[in-house]
Amino acid sequence: MVALGPGARSTGAVTALPANRQAWSDDGNNISEEDEVTRRERTLRFSLAGVQLKFSALQNEGKGRGLTIPAKGVGGDWIVKLPAAQFEAVPENEFSFMTLAQKIGIDVPEIDLIDLKMIEGLPDGLGRLQGEKAFAIKRFDRSEEGPVHFEDFAQVFGQYPHAKYDDASYRNIASVLGIETSQDDVAEFIRRLVFSTLIGNDDMHLKNWSLIYYDRKTPSIAPAYDLLSTIPYLPSKTAALKYARTNIMAKFTLDELAYLAAKAKLPEKLILDTAKETVAAFQEIWPKEKQHLALGRNVIDAVDAHMETLVLPKEC
Ligand SMILES: Nc1ncnc2c1ncn2[C@@H]1O[C@H](COP(=O)(O)OP(=O)(O)OP(=O)(O)O)[C@@H](O)[C@H]1O
Ligand SMILES: [Mg+2]
Repeated sequence: MVALGPGARSTGAVTALPANRQAWSDDGNNISEEDEVTRRERTLRFSLAGVQLKFSALQNEGKGRGLTIPAKGVGGDWIVKLPAAQFEAVPENEFSFMTLAQKIGIDVPEIDLIDLKMIEGLPDGLGRLQGEKAFAIKRFDRSEEGPVHFEDFAQVFGQYPHAKYDDASYRNIASVLGIETSQDDVAEFIRRLVFSTLIGNDDMHLKNWSLIYYDRKTPSIAPAYDLLSTIPYLPSKTAALKYARTNIMAKFTLDELAYLAAKAKLPEKLILDTAKETVAAFQEIWPKEKQHLALGRNVIDAVDAHMETLVLPKEC
């Protein structure tokens, strides 16, 4: 895998978050019936994580909207994710679901689906890739004034990157957001969590959520990234992390959300209303948009079948 730039914890900003793991790991380590399922699915999940080569890229000047990967691998306002070798049309999948996410009000950076031919500076020897398009996303950690500090939740919780599926739960992330950020950010988190569950994105591990410090001091939830439907490639019934008591997507109900709210000391009404609104927006938009997105029949069918297995859409 070609690593991206912003992985390392950057300097300058202060993070005031739960200081020890005791503060957040109390629902993560107990052996439960879900853990058995998780163990089985985790092996598969690892094989989807990092299947795409990623580069930082510069947008070409003038017409044509091409990208250039700088020779030294540094710099660039865009991240470009190439097609995978093992799975079909992953960039189209990510572009489509990020587009949908934006339509239902999730904070999504500028994105593009770009022909590989429009990318200069790709290394030789990439082998056979499954597709001709790449997914491009504008970097949210760049500003006119320079780099913007952000840290993912593996860093926030002091977990090693390889432990991105371990110990912590969405409830723990929600707790931190509740303490450190605004109610809007908490609502944004719930929107993404519900959206990911609806589309069958089983890979929202700790490194797919971040805090960003626009003013170098105050944390807010970073814009969305890595939202795609993983179930067409690797069928799964579990989320990457536990919600609060369970990681089974079909058990992600209003009751589980209310429990999450109580444990994370968040206003129940905010959590439940946001979840219901997200389901309603998705149910309104998905049937209209699915045919017009860059999605294969297999992806549409997999998402529709997955939705049938969920309880939350029926409850809302
Ligand atoms: N728009 C963005 N701006 C800045 N950094 C980003 C952006 N999108 C992604 N990143 C960073 O790049 C990392 C890798 O990107 P992403 O999660 O999309 O790739 P991935 O290979 O699908 O990851 P995974 O290992 O979860 O499968 C993210 O964890 C995040 O730190
Ligand atoms: Mg990721």
